[in-house]
Amino acid sequence: MTGRHIKIFATGGTIAGKAGSATGREYTPGQIGVEELLAEVARLDLPARLFGTQFASIGSEDIGPALWHQLHRACVSASAEDDCLGIIITHGTDTAEETAFLLDQTLPTAKPVILVGAMRPADAVGSDGMRNFANAVRVAADAEAAGRGVLLVMSDHIFAARDVRKARTEGVDAFRGFPRGPVGHVTPTSLEWFGAPWRTGEALRLEFHQNMPKVIILYAYAGMPGEDVAAAVRSGAKGLVLAGFGQGNAPAEVRSALAQAARTGVPVVRASRVDQGLVDRELDDDANGFIAARALGPPKARVLLQLLLANGISDPVRMQAAFDRR
Ligand code: DGL
Repeated sequence: MTGRHIKIFATGGTIAGKAGSATGREYTPGQIGVEELLAEVARLDLPARLFGTQFASIGSEDIGPALWHQLHRACVSASAEDDCLGIIITHGTDTAEETAFLLDQTLPTAKPVILVGAMRPADAVGSDGMRNFANAVRVAADAEAAGRGVLLVMSDHIFAARDVRKARTEGVDAFRGFPRGPVGHVTPTSLEWFGAPWRTGEALRLEFHQNMPKVIILYAYAGMPGEDVAAAVRSGAKGLVLAGFGQGNAPAEVRSALAQAARTGVPVVRASRVDQGLVDRELDDDANGFIAARALGPPKARVLLQLLLANGISDPVRMQAAFDRR
């Protein structure tokens, strides 16, 4: 018997990174193992028992379906344990939003699953990792965290997976929520939710299959030729996400190449290359067979399109409904 506890799944990133100097610029992510992390946090007098498992010691640029598969399986089995209050995943910040969103869409649990990272390595002056971690423990141990989907905790903010995105490359306040800002505020001694859980009961869950279909993001640029679309389709893409101008726009020849792709059964999602880009449906979307990404940026639109395809959902109306869901 382990008693009531929180599981810590460690993957590496800057939260486990070391520079070897408090002021050094260069550092290596994923240097500190989960045991060392837990020994370090033992002195913080946190409100729960913690059990750690090391899944990887890598920068999150190298995280993808293979590690997602392991994390997904572990989250499913941990969340089925009565004594497990919640799960914290330590993660590099670069792709944290994709892992958070993937788990959010696929985990069949209402228990809290929290991603946490750091912008400064553990031995840097002003390191943010321990504070972020202590905050994540507070969130995972909170009964009101249940039913809010997968969350990401950074710089005293709590974000929902669907909203969160890395918006800055430097500084501890690197994440933003869009279209909602943070859904709560947390410090090691306080926790405030900005409203009630927005999900009630079990949400519709997509199955996670490790073999995710190939979906390519096409980043729009001035003078982009339609040939970019054709090349992506020739390379075997099963779906395309346009990181378009403004509200998901692209040069005329790209739009017609995308419509051609959609006609041949390669679904096309229009997202925006603008950081806070909301892409609504437009009149031509029905005729072109396009799907509007709404508030999802290109990386998360790609993950959702992969999941839909892997779950055999290819009807544009059903796909659009998944993008419309909050
Ligand atoms: N390569 C980065 C990553 O693991 C390190 C940066 C970070 O964790 O913030 O995502």
